[in-house]
Amino acid sequence: MMDANTSLFGLIGNPVAHSLSPIMHNQAFAATGYNGVYLAFRVTDPAGAITGIKALNVKGASVTLPHKVAVMEHLDEIDAIAARIGAVNTIVSNDGKLTGHNTDCRGAIDALQMKTPLENKSVAIIGAGGAARAIGFGLKSAAGHLTILNRTRKTGEQLAAELQADFLPLNDWQPDRHEILINTTPVGMHPNTDATLIAKKNLSKEMVVMDIVYNPIKTRFLREAAARGCQTINGVDMFVFQGAQQFELWTGQSAPVDVMRRAVLKALAI
Ligand code: ATR
Repeated sequence: MMDANTSLFGLIGNPVAHSLSPIMHNQAFAATGYNGVYLAFRVTDPAGAITGIKALNVKGASVTLPHKVAVMEHLDEIDAIAARIGAVNTIVSNDGKLTGHNTDCRGAIDALQMKTPLENKSVAIIGAGGAARAIGFGLKSAAGHLTILNRTRKTGEQLAAELQADFLPLNDWQPDRHEILINTTPVGMHPNTDATLIAKKNLSKEMVVMDIVYNPIKTRFLREAAARGCQTINGVDMFVFQGAQQFELWTGQSAPVDVMRRAVLKALAI
């Protein structure tokens, strides 16, 4: 029930119409009895949106494409991980003082750790865009050895250098070199659901395979990995864990992760 004490949260992005964050966070608020409401704002002026957050005493926000970098200069503080990644996906207001965080990083680590320990593991990230960057910074400290696999050498080498990781052109990847393989590219996403970057025959059952694509939930990459006996982690897991960390930053309470996952899965099934 909304009343005069309801706290407002929102999503800043463009487009936002298909975002699953409002459903996930509103159900989390309802399940925990937290007096909050979360709305999606299609924003073309990120500086204006930040002014609005302060003026209206909005308690927190998620930030999505294309504003994850642009909002940074308008915040009062950036936490250390978000600063290193160079992108913010979460804003927390403490009485109008705004801090930027990046929960994509922990979201990926938490999703992976559900299925596998990371220490001393050899991990390959496919792709070198914004998602690869956030996940790479998380894995740099958690995993043993990191390789960036990318179609384009220049961007791949740049990210690898920043992460002090190895670079390998995607076409030169060989099986049996990595224990964990993570797709951070859009390959396999609806409507090109038949696309995959790693041949099925090169996947072996000792491997853990993760895809950040969540539409469809079971990408061809994950379906083939499962058929080969690999452990698989889907994009919904990562999305839910990044949202769970947002919930914890905003409310100070532990997140109802199962409620959040069910809300997202139900929305995707429609
Ligand atoms: P995001 O910021 O959401 O991670 P991005 O910056 O567009 O997305 O990054 C997309 C990544 O997916 C890039 O590494 C891109 O490879 P290039 O650097 O070679 O462009 C990779 N990618 C996209 N489509 C691809 C495809 N068909 N085959 C291989 N890699 C692809």
